[in-house]
Amino acid sequence: MIELYLDTADIEQVARFNQCLPLRGVTTNPSILARSATGLSRLLPALASELGPAARFYAQVVSTTAQGMVEEAKQINQLPYDMVVKVPATETGLAAIKQIKKEGILVLATAIYSAQQGFLAALCGADYLAPYVNRIDAMGADGVGVVADLQHLINQHGLASKILAASFKNTQQAMDVMKLGIAAITLPVDVAQQMFAHPAVQPAVDQFSKDWHEAFADKLSFES
Ligand code: E4P
Repeated sequence: MIELYLDTADIEQVARFNQCLPLRGVTTNPSILARSATGLSRLLPALASELGPAARFYAQVVSTTAQGMVEEAKQINQLPYDMVVKVPATETGLAAIKQIKKEGILVLATAIYSAQQGFLAALCGADYLAPYVNRIDAMGADGVGVVADLQHLINQHGLASKILAASFKNTQQAMDVMKLGIAAITLPVDVAQQMFAHPAVQPAVDQFSKDWHEAFADKLSFES
């Protein structure tokens, strides 16, 4: 089954969507944490208490040197949760990923804007690859196409890396990449909400309710 994540630091929304979706965990990035003014030390225990011990969490390094990223990754990995360390797939980041993998730490290569960049991160051993679908689209390129090319490269070369597609502004983008058979996806709260929002749904449910009450008043189905 595809791994489904929420891309947020909003604990209430995580609790809400965990009621109705099979969440594998939560992804964050430095901007998300900064916007929410919530650090990992407060966020992770709260998320773990909502999602349980099997939940997986993603935290990004903020160090700017390869050695700094490696040291930071080790610290993130020591947190008492199922952690995946996010490392930007820059030249420096790829150097860090190679070293971090020698430590046996789970790594996601992030900020992927092209298939070749993601492919290099996969060759360096990244466990997950995060292509930024909407950000690529917003630059006039083809985000879904990048994901398709990257998935093709992974398959062709028998690589173990999994695509965790990220950066969505609408459900069409999400559906298009899921149709490619990617292993994982992270959705922002508004897109997760849109996934089950269709203007015809509530009127249909209301009509069932109206028809039922006209025929059977307050009886439940098994009482009819
Ligand atoms: C995930 O790795 C990214 O941090 C995130 O999904 C980017 O999303 P955005 O383009 O909506 O900021």
